[in-house]
Amino acid sequence: MFAVVLVGGFGTRLRPLTEHTPKQMLPICGVPMIEWVVGHLAEHGVQEVGLALGYRPDAFLNAYPNGRIADIPYRVAVEAEALGTAGAIRFAAQEMQLEETFLVLNGDVLTDLHIGALVEFHDQHEAEATIALQAVSDPSRFGVVRTGDNGRVEEFIEKPPAGKSPSNHINAGTYVMNPSVVDRIPEGRPVSIERETFPDMAEAGTLYAMQSDTYWLDTGTPGQFLEANLDVLQGRRKNRPSMPLATVHPAAQIEESVIGTGSHIDAEVMVKRSVLFTDCHVSRGATIVDSVLSDEVYVGEGTRLEGCVIGSGQRIEAGATLIDQKRPGS
Ligand code: GDD
Ligand code: MG
Repeated sequence: MFAVVLVGGFGTRLRPLTEHTPKQMLPICGVPMIEWVVGHLAEHGVQEVGLALGYRPDAFLNAYPNGRIADIPYRVAVEAEALGTAGAIRFAAQEMQLEETFLVLNGDVLTDLHIGALVEFHDQHEAEATIALQAVSDPSRFGVVRTGDNGRVEEFIEKPPAGKSPSNHINAGTYVMNPSVVDRIPEGRPVSIERETFPDMAEAGTLYAMQSDTYWLDTGTPGQFLEANLDVLQGRRKNRPSMPLATVHPAAQIEESVIGTGSHIDAEVMVKRSVLFTDCHVSRGATIVDSVLSDEVYVGEGTRLEGCVIGSGQRIEAGATLIDQKRPGS
């Protein structure tokens, strides 16, 4: 399936971070947000993405000069001026000649949404478009959606005044769309999908919505952006394999040691006077003292390494005790 990712906004609420960098190129634990978003799509079988660009398109093109992001190919549609969310979808769909059902995503949302389930829901309900929903405590900052029986959307209100929301289910920013939606979007002026197209479709009865309760975060404000980073650091969200930071469980003890990028240290681990190169994994309860571990070393649970030098890619079995040993790389 093809996915259009909306990444053309100005990121105003994140200034000055977005003064020179589009929001979706800001790093979440060292990895640009767009890689988290596209990486998630790739995991769910999306084969190609189209970036709907506006603000600072070069930031994306320069960062991914070989035409791939997170291992899948991408194309771009660059708006001469901001066309709004619906205008951007129309423009991208035309530029990319989309003739089959496609996905649309707000590029600033981090989620573990099951994309396949959303597409299946869309097909089963013979919807013209289907929105993923998320329940939140304060819906006023979002697009609020009221659904009837069977998931049909009865009302879509973008950012209603506080206390005036007809439901606490909000538009989670992932859509499945039939190409006919594109024909509903007027050309030649900015159009908002949330303020024009979705309310019209709700009235026509062709818009559906599926509730989901996975990890979900809109990263659009400084507080949310910080939260996105901490969610990864603190394990509320799985990290990407390419993440260039180490993750250390709060119940681990690290003293006088270097933990290489991409490494992961579990709970109740003790690392003392040791150096770990990149992408090592140290399992629960292991102790590493006065040792050097090369890249991608896996240390099993409860293992004890003392005065060891371990080559790259080695696996040290759980429960082993190695003292003053050298193990070549595998
Ligand atoms: N190409 C393009 N052109 N992209 C745009 C434009 C545009 O003119 N305007 C906004 N975007 C992109 C932004 O970069 C962002 O990725 C996405 O569209 C949504 O815009 P935001 O500015 O982040 O909207 P929001 O967070 O206030 O609200 C939206 O997201 C909520 C969920 O996170 C709405 O879709 C709400 O209904 C929704 O609840
Ligand atoms: Mg947003």
